[in-house]
Amino acid sequence: MRLRLSRTAAVIGSVLGLTVAAASTTAISATSTVATGTESLHSKTSLDLWPQGVYRVPVDAALEARVGTLLAQMSLEQKVAQIIQPEIRDFSVEDMRRVGFGSFLNGGGSFPGNNSQARASDWVTLADAMYEAAMDASLDGAAIPPFWGTDAVHGHGNVFGATLFPHNIGLGATQNPGLIKAIAATTAREVRATGIDWVFAPTVALVDNLRWGRSYEGYARDPQLIERYARAFVAGMQGEGDSWLDGAHTLATAKHFIGDGGTENGDDRGDTRVDEATLAGRHGQGYVGALAQGVQTVMASFNSWNGEKLHGSHYLLTEVLKNRLGFDGVVVGDWLGHGFVPGCSYERCAAAINAGVDILMAPGDSWKALYPNTIADVKSGAVPASRLDDAVKRILRVKLRAGLFDGLSPSKRPFAGDASLIGHPEHRALARQAVAESLVLLKNNPVEGAPLLPIKSSARVLVIGEGADNIPQQAGGWSMTWQGTEVTNADFPGATSIFAGIDDALKAGGGEARLSVDGSIPADFTPDLVLAVFGESPYAEGNGDLDNLEYQRGDKRDLAMLKRIRAAGLPLVSVFLSGRPLWVNPELNASDAFVAAWLPGSEGAGVADVLIGDKHAKPRADFIGRLPFPWPATPDADGWHHEDKPQASLFELWQGFDYQSNATLATLDESSGAETAPSRLAIFDKAIKAPWHLAVGDDSGMHRVGAGVWQQGAWSVRSINREVQEDARRFSFAAAGSLSFRDDFPMDLRRFYRKTAVLGFDAALESVPTQAELSMQCEGNCGQTLNLAGSLVADAKWRRYQVPLGCFGLGVNELGRVFSPMTLTLGAGDALTLANVAIEEAGAASAANILLAECGQTQAEAEAMPR
Ligand code: BGC
Ligand code: BGC
Repeated sequence: MRLRLSRTAAVIGSVLGLTVAAASTTAISATSTVATGTESLHSKTSLDLWPQGVYRVPVDAALEARVGTLLAQMSLEQKVAQIIQPEIRDFSVEDMRRVGFGSFLNGGGSFPGNNSQARASDWVTLADAMYEAAMDASLDGAAIPPFWGTDAVHGHGNVFGATLFPHNIGLGATQNPGLIKAIAATTAREVRATGIDWVFAPTVALVDNLRWGRSYEGYARDPQLIERYARAFVAGMQGEGDSWLDGAHTLATAKHFIGDGGTENGDDRGDTRVDEATLAGRHGQGYVGALAQGVQTVMASFNSWNGEKLHGSHYLLTEVLKNRLGFDGVVVGDWLGHGFVPGCSYERCAAAINAGVDILMAPGDSWKALYPNTIADVKSGAVPASRLDDAVKRILRVKLRAGLFDGLSPSKRPFAGDASLIGHPEHRALARQAVAESLVLLKNNPVEGAPLLPIKSSARVLVIGEGADNIPQQAGGWSMTWQGTEVTNADFPGATSIFAGIDDALKAGGGEARLSVDGSIPADFTPDLVLAVFGESPYAEGNGDLDNLEYQRGDKRDLAMLKRIRAAGLPLVSVFLSGRPLWVNPELNASDAFVAAWLPGSEGAGVADVLIGDKHAKPRADFIGRLPFPWPATPDADGWHHEDKPQASLFELWQGFDYQSNATLATLDESSGAETAPSRLAIFDKAIKAPWHLAVGDDSGMHRVGAGVWQQGAWSVRSINREVQEDARRFSFAAAGSLSFRDDFPMDLRRFYRKTAVLGFDAALESVPTQAELSMQCEGNCGQTLNLAGSLVADAKWRRYQVPLGCFGLGVNELGRVFSPMTLTLGAGDALTLANVAIEEAGAASAANILLAECGQTQAEAEAMPR
């Protein structure tokens, strides 16, 4: 357990903007005894640590009277409907008419009619249909306008053609609250164009461990900056003064309350074990800023504080947030977050409501039972009627403030359906500016006497690397799909890749850019220098959690590419795309210049604006960005912040060079100490792992399968929840076809050329498929197909199947160019559910683990493989 217990009252007081009273000194010493367990950390005597009444939206007596009148007319059923929030994939307009939900959401990768290319008008049509159904009192007896929440966390990320701003970590690097405000206001407009009125942003997490997969959602490891940014974002998104919550603005949500970025080991949804002074003084600052600016909703977090789930914490949600800080808006739960409170399920949770959650987010089918169960809980007194009334009052209050009762359906509100706002050139220009300001220069060594950057606009530049012309990679998670995977450039019309921006800038200056994703040097192009764009593949939430901060541990594909360029004697600039600082000493050494570009979003041209100078190599713009987190000096650094045991950093917080500074970096230590190749390669583990995507089809063509619900001709695929969201896929084939995990580029799997390596997957089937042919595909026509039908057990239970890699008949070189590690062909009428696909070590055979020991491999082939 790492606790910082030695903060002084003065420090905390100044962090919170408080005048320190003698009383708080006493309170702090109460928590500052060394804690041995949950109990002693939880001395709930420290309300003094939190700034009283920081939320100051004035009480409007007339509005409160209206809230009271409305509430008095509502039945129990109508009230409960207000506090349950279904998701558009899993409830219909008719459900809305019948129940009259108070709100609904579209999750990441969820669109009207499951159409990822839905236009602004399609979104508005759904918003209107839901509104009309909610206002239709014929079935539920109530006419209360609903609100619709969406994750516009870096622009309106689920909308085809929307402007995508850099993820928060990049915005942190800019240290520019004015920019944040403008981005939030712009996002609100694009959201308004789709008829939506509520945004689940900003994330104000203070990220204390970079292993956390949501690190990029945090602005910086700096409580003061987060406080200022939260204020700026809320001001931009909700408006202020006369424009407060007017038709040009949307509701904002400060999330995830509280301590989401402080979990042990950076575990997503983990436990934040810190004393209350740290919780308030570090993790609380974003809320101080957002509440001071009048944010109207706060989202409860998945994480625990010292063992207690936030969704079940009456102390933090009610005593601290509502009573002490003075928040009179809505606490919305996170995605089924109530279901993790002890004693609760997705379908029933009095404890979360009683703790202070006002709206339960209830995607999937959970709302169907949650609704009657909650009604029953109020009837039995498990949820006091007064608590339900308080929750509904808060909801009505926010709806009245937001003008929802003004009688206008979503399509009649300002900007609704205005397709020109989606990806509007001015919005893109703002995003491009943000990209340029977010770049952090980490190295700019001299080549032939002068620093390599900026690049002359007349230069000939070879642009290499997977990230060079790859909008999904530069956009990261929360971009058209939740994970940001399973999409291509075509899913982001109007966006500009980093390569495209470089190409434009060089064309304008008489130079030339050439793209070579795999890094090979074309015979007909003699570059002056090479610019490599590479980095992390997209992920969201826990799928991005890491064990270690080493970049491409065990699989240094990009480093090998950089080294080939160095061997050819060409100067090399690296642009690193990532959701966080990672240990890249070898890649830094291999580069003459190195730029951290974070996850810039849709406007890749912002990179060229700073990297490409004029004809005389004079900069057109300088590097403004500085590191929002320290950069790790060792591979096993976990990026953890703890003042008592600081970790060596290569660069400190807010470091970074510019064209004025000497940015020469000496050769760094490359010993990683963690060289062992991983023994497992996940292909589909909770999410489909990049670079793989899922495709379904037959010889006449394979189709990329989108997340959620997908249908093409006779084939349908649905994401389903086994242990966590979308961690399994259900395939139903009315005609014969193949499902395939694949990539457009071959993957080198030679390290798995050994006897004990298997392809493993979990499958459940109700009946034996008519056909089940398994293969691994590489470049050309290689390998062999295996008939699995006789080995699959059809009793609807989950089993793990393991097939030795040797069974696929690939030689070691063929294993070096694998396009599909798993392709399964099923027959007409076949169905199966699949999860957890990986190349791994063989386990012991058992009823639950079916190890295919014999697969027609010859003895000689089997003997040829090393152990
Ligand atoms: C949804 C996301 C959501 C996630 C929760 C996904 O199925 O599409 O919006 O955040 O589940 O973990
Ligand atoms: C995430 C939230 C998000 C919600 C709705 C959750 O999984 O934690 O940040 O707002 O899903 O998509």
